[in-house]
Amino acid sequence: MKDFQPRAILLRDYRAPDYWIDKTDLHFSLAEEATDVTAELMLRRNAEAAAGAPLVLHGQDMELIEVAVDGRPLAPREYQLTDELLTLPQVPAQFKLTCKTRLKPAQNTSLEGLYKSHSMYCTQCEAEGFRKITYYLDRPDVMSEFTTTIDADRSRYPVLLSNGNLVDRGEGDGGRHWVRWHDPFKKPAYLFALVAGDLCALDDTFTTRSGREVTLRIFVEAKDLDKCDHAMASLKNAMAWDEKVYGREYDLDIFMIVAVDDFNMGAMENKGLNIFNTSCVLAKPETTTDAGFQRVEAVVAHEYFHNWSGNRVTCRDWFQLSLKEGFTVFRDAEFSADMGSPTVKRVEDVSLLRTLQFAEDAGPMSHPVQPASFIEISNFYTLTIYEKGAEVVRMLRNLLGAAQFRRGSDLYFERHDGQAVTIDDFVKAMEDASGRDLGQFKRWYSQAGTPVLEVDGVYDAGREEFTLTVSQSCPPTPDSETKLAFHIPLAVGLVGEAGPLALRLRGSDSGTGEADQGSCVLELTKPQQTFVFEGVAEKPVPSLLRGFSAPVKLHYDYSRDDLMRLMSRDSDGFCRWDASQQLGVAVIGDLIDRYGKTGELHREPADPRLLSAHRELLDDDSLDRAMVALMLRLPTEAYLSELADTVDVEAIHAARQHLRKALALALAEQWERVYHGNCSDEAYRADAGAIARRSLKNTALGYLALREDDNSLELCRTQFEQADNMTDVLAALACLVNGTSAAATAASTAALAAFYQRWQHEPLVVNQWLSVQAGCVAPGGLARVKALLQHPGFDIKNPNKVRALIGTFCNQNAINFHLKSGAGYRFLADQIIVLNRLNPQIAARMTTPLTKWQKYDPQRQILMKSELERILIEPDLSKDVYEVVSKSLR
Ligand code: ARG
Ligand code: ZN
Repeated sequence: MKDFQPRAILLRDYRAPDYWIDKTDLHFSLAEEATDVTAELMLRRNAEAAAGAPLVLHGQDMELIEVAVDGRPLAPREYQLTDELLTLPQVPAQFKLTCKTRLKPAQNTSLEGLYKSHSMYCTQCEAEGFRKITYYLDRPDVMSEFTTTIDADRSRYPVLLSNGNLVDRGEGDGGRHWVRWHDPFKKPAYLFALVAGDLCALDDTFTTRSGREVTLRIFVEAKDLDKCDHAMASLKNAMAWDEKVYGREYDLDIFMIVAVDDFNMGAMENKGLNIFNTSCVLAKPETTTDAGFQRVEAVVAHEYFHNWSGNRVTCRDWFQLSLKEGFTVFRDAEFSADMGSPTVKRVEDVSLLRTLQFAEDAGPMSHPVQPASFIEISNFYTLTIYEKGAEVVRMLRNLLGAAQFRRGSDLYFERHDGQAVTIDDFVKAMEDASGRDLGQFKRWYSQAGTPVLEVDGVYDAGREEFTLTVSQSCPPTPDSETKLAFHIPLAVGLVGEAGPLALRLRGSDSGTGEADQGSCVLELTKPQQTFVFEGVAEKPVPSLLRGFSAPVKLHYDYSRDDLMRLMSRDSDGFCRWDASQQLGVAVIGDLIDRYGKTGELHREPADPRLLSAHRELLDDDSLDRAMVALMLRLPTEAYLSELADTVDVEAIHAARQHLRKALALALAEQWERVYHGNCSDEAYRADAGAIARRSLKNTALGYLALREDDNSLELCRTQFEQADNMTDVLAALACLVNGTSAAATAASTAALAAFYQRWQHEPLVVNQWLSVQAGCVAPGGLARVKALLQHPGFDIKNPNKVRALIGTFCNQNAINFHLKSGAGYRFLADQIIVLNRLNPQIAARMTTPLTKWQKYDPQRQILMKSELERILIEPDLSKDVYEVVSKSLR
C-alpha cells in the first residue's frame, strides 16, 4: 500500500500562476549515457501575485545540476528540492532563471518526457511530461515563446527536429552537429516536442487559400517510407477541409509528422511537429486493414485540427481537457464523414460510445466531461472526455444549426486566439453568436452519467393524433447522487406502412425546421414532457433519436414487427441500423434466457423474423452495401454485456454464437452468393465503396466458415493465401483461427506460422497476428496468450503490443478472460504489476476490465476484487494505477 495517499487536484482550487515565462530557451546535448538540458527562462511575476510569492517549479525523475538567477548559481540552501517540486523562496519580480538538468532517456520506459524509441529520441509532454525535461511551470496557462537548440552525434542523429522554424545550424566537435528551432507562437510546455534520429522523409507542399506555400514532411524509418502516402493525402485533405468548413488556415511554413513505434497514445499535436504512433501514420494495402486506413485518416486530421482547437486556443487547466479534445473529435468525425460514408462513420462512433463510454459512465471511473477532480490527469484521457465531449459539441451544432455554430466557432477562435481558456468560454462564444441561452445545456459538462429516456407513444385513430410522452432521468454516479434535468435534443420522425410521414407538431407553426424531411427536433428540458403530432392518418412507428441526436439510452416498447418496419422503411440511416441492433438484442435475449434455464441451446430455434430480415437485406441488390454490411453485424458481446444488469458471460457467448450458427445455416445460399458477388479483381482502394464491399464479403465469409465444411475451409484458405490486401488476409485468418474442426485447427496452425514468417519484420503486422490469436474464442485462450507473452514478436515495453495481446484478450475475449477460476483476472493483475513499474499510464489503462467487477456474479466479483486488492498493496504503486484501483474499490 502506498505510504501516502496521493492528493486529488480540484477544479475549484484553480489559481492563476504567480509567474509567467515569457521566453523559454532550451539547449539539449543528446548522448546515450545522459542527456544534459540547459533551460533559460525569462520569468515575470504575475501582476496579481503577492509581492514576495515564491517560485514553485514542477520537476521529476531528473538530476538537478545547477540553478542560477540572473546568471548567479544558487547555493543548495537558497532553494528547496523535493521529488516533484523545486522552490525558490525569494526571486526578483523579473529575472532570468537558468536550470541545468541531466536525464536518462534510454532508461525512461514511461514514454513520457524525453525517451528513446529504438534508435530515435523523442518526447511526449502532454499532459505533464515536460517536467521530466526541466524544472518548469508545467501547466497549460503558462504560455511561452520557445527556442530549442539540439546538439547530437551527426551520424546517428542526422535529423534533429523541434517546433516552429529551423533558424540556424552548425557543426560541432567530435562528429557532432547542432540545429536551432524557433517557434514564433507562444505555447504551453505540453506542446513542446523534440525528435532526433536517422529518419527519411516524404515531402509535399500545400498552398493555403491565402496563397502561402507550406512544406509538409512525414518522417519515418527508411523501411517505412513506402507507407506514408495515405497519411500525406489525409493531411492535405484535412488542411483543405479546415479552411472550407471552419475557415482555419495553417500558420507556420512547415508542418511535420514523425512516426515512432513506442507511444502511449495515438498521436500528439505538438506545434508544427506532430508525433505519431506508427499505427496511426503508416498504411499500405499489403500491411494495413481498412480500419487501419480509416484510423490513419482520422488521427492525422485530428492532430492537424488541434492546431486551432488546442494550440492557437488552448486549455486553461486540465479540467478543460474536453475543450480541445471533445471539439477536435467532433471536427475529425465530421471530416471522416465527408471523406467516406457519413452513416457508417456515425454508426461506428455511436457503437463505440454506447458500448465503452456508457460502460465507463456506469462504472467507478465515471466523471463529467468537465471533471471536478483528479489524482493523475493521464487517467482522464477517456472516452468521456473525447467521445462524449464530441457528442456534446454535436448537440450544440444541432441545436444552433450549422450557420450559427460556425459563427460561434469563428467568434471563439477570434476572441481567444493565443489564450488558455475554459469550456465556459467556448459555450459563451456559442451563446453570444447565436443569442441562445445555453445555461441548462451546460449541465452536460458538469453532470456525469448517461441520461435515460423512457418514451411512450399512443395513437388515437379517431383524432388522427400520435402522442409521445418522454421522461428523462439519470442514474447516480460517484460525482453526484441526484441530477438536474438535461437539455436534450431528441430528433424524431414517424414511419408509416410505406415510409416516413409528414410531421405536424401541435403548438409549433410548421411543425419544425425540417418538417418537410419528416424529421423534427424535440427539445427536452423537464423531467417529463408530452408532444402531440396531428394529422397522422395511420398508426405510425416512431423513429426516435435520429442520427443519435443525444448521448442517451432510450427505451421504447417496440414490437419486433415495428423494428422490422424501421429497418426497411425509415429514412434515417442511424435508426435503420439501430432497429437491426434492437432486433438482434431481443432475439439474442430470448436465447440468453433459454440458456439460463437449461444450460444449453442445442436445438433452440431463433426468431424467424430476424432470419427473414437478414434474408431480405441479403437479397435486395438495390440496397447500399455499406448499410447492409452494418445491419448484418450482430450486437457485440461487449454491447450485450453493457446492456445487462449482471453479465452472464457464458450465456451471452453461447447465445450469440448460436444465433450466428443459425444464420449461417439458414442463409447458406445467400452468404455464398454475397461472398462471390463481392469478390473483385480491382486493385485495392480505401474508398467507402470498396471498404463496404470488403466488409460485406468478409461478413459473408465469417458465416460460411461457421459451416466448418471442406468448401468453406478452402474458401478461407484461398483468400488467406491469395488476397493482395491485409483486410482480406486477416479476415480469412480470423476465420481459420476461430475454427473448431480438426481440419480448421491444422489450417490455422499453418496459416499463423506462414503469416509470422512473412511479416516478422513489420511490427504493426505482427501486432495484428498477436491480436487475432488473443481474440480466439476457442477454449484454452489463457494458455495461448501466456505462451505468446514469451514469443519474440511480443515486447511488454511496447504499448501497441501490450494492447494487441493483453488488451485484446481481456477486453474482447470474455469467454476466455472471465474464467470461473479467476485465472484470467490473476493473469491480468500480474501484467498490471509488471507494467506499473515500466509504464504507469499503460498499466492504469489495462486495469479497466477489472474495475467493472460490479457487473458480474458474486463469485467473479470476489475474484476480481481480490486481484484489485493485490495490486493496491504493491509497493511503489504509481499514482496512475492507485487512482483507478482505489476508486474502483471504494
Ligand atoms: N492530445 C493527444 C490527442 O488527442 C493525446 C495525447 C495524450 N497523451 C497522454 N499521454 N495522455 O491526440
Ligand atoms: Zn486530441
